[in-house]
Amino acid sequence: SSASKGGWPSFMAKEIADQPQAVGDTLMGRIDSEGNVRLSEFEGLDQLADVTRIIITACGTAAYAGEVAKYAIEKWAKLPVSVELAHELRYRDPVLDSNTLVIAISQSGETMDTLMATRYAKERGSKVLSICNTQGATLARESDATIYTHAGPEVAVASTKAFTAQITAGLLVALALASLRQSLPKSELNELGLELLKLPRQVKQVLESLPRMRELGREYSQAKSVLFLGRNVGYPIAMEGALKLKELAYIHAEGFAAGELKHGPIALIESGQPVIVIVPSPKGPDSLHPKVVSNIQEIKARGAKVIAIAVEGDQEVSQYADEVFYTPDAHPFTVAVLAVIPLQTFALELASAKGLDVDQPRNLAKSVTVE
Ligand code: G6P
Repeated sequence: SSASKGGWPSFMAKEIADQPQAVGDTLMGRIDSEGNVRLSEFEGLDQLADVTRIIITACGTAAYAGEVAKYAIEKWAKLPVSVELAHELRYRDPVLDSNTLVIAISQSGETMDTLMATRYAKERGSKVLSICNTQGATLARESDATIYTHAGPEVAVASTKAFTAQITAGLLVALALASLRQSLPKSELNELGLELLKLPRQVKQVLESLPRMRELGREYSQAKSVLFLGRNVGYPIAMEGALKLKELAYIHAEGFAAGELKHGPIALIESGQPVIVIVPSPKGPDSLHPKVVSNIQEIKARGAKVIAIAVEGDQEVSQYADEVFYTPDAHPFTVAVLAVIPLQTFALELASAKGLDVDQPRNLAKSVTVE
């Protein structure tokens, strides 16, 4: 009913708008005013300090949230992490032991592929931590511990607010592990904790600057294919942007690691090809900004139409891209949460302009409870 959509034209539009709260509620009570992260849920995990590696497992959008978490856990907690699609992990005879922590991410907590991978990991003696949005879900019941995302019920088949809440939870887990392992100085941990607390406000800011992105979605409604490029955490965000377009608009869309462009995908670029590029902040000695700007120049030279998602203050990128959407200049990992919002909006508007049902795309189910 339109009442439950709170006046929005679709559940998806409502759920995109719900994101400041989804992220805020996921952070709530988990970071104190000094920036200390505390996840009491970790108490359910025996000998967590002995963990030597992490495997994150999930399907679909949740797996992209897992990819973002991987960058954060490795950088902050200094533990090796791999991300494996659940249906691949389960059937490839993976090496799992009691020093492996498996983190399963699922909005519904009922995805059969993810449940099967989790059960298998437990049988092999691994610890299982889940990140789940549904209280009392099968996944939560079967895990040693569960960090709930508090995104609230997500109705639209294509995930939006659950995704940003999953990334938020992943960043919390990364900081809590770093704190446990003392892999970062306390001052740095606290700074990062305080950065996370800024997210709900920053998400709100992004939501207020979406009108041009909506127009672009409509302008590109006849596109046959849209490509997405990103590096570091921008890479999974590019893949998620592409997935949203496949799910909602039924067009070919693909996300690439920008560094991979020259190894093949650049052959796809012809005149008029829309490419959405996630551009990292130019700040810092290790910034990948120059490399991504040079990718933009390469594809522009071949006729691509470039929409850049950049951080505020990046003047340089506007010289090369056809359009620039600016997010607040936050920590690179939290920018992942901000950068996906214009991509969700682009897909929503493009699909709506095509007259498609954005809440219930063809052939898809909200939760796939069969293998
Ligand atoms: C289905 C949905 C996707 C979702 C995936 C994982 O395929 O259509 O939008 O990302 O399941 O769902 P989960 O509930 O496990 O996060």
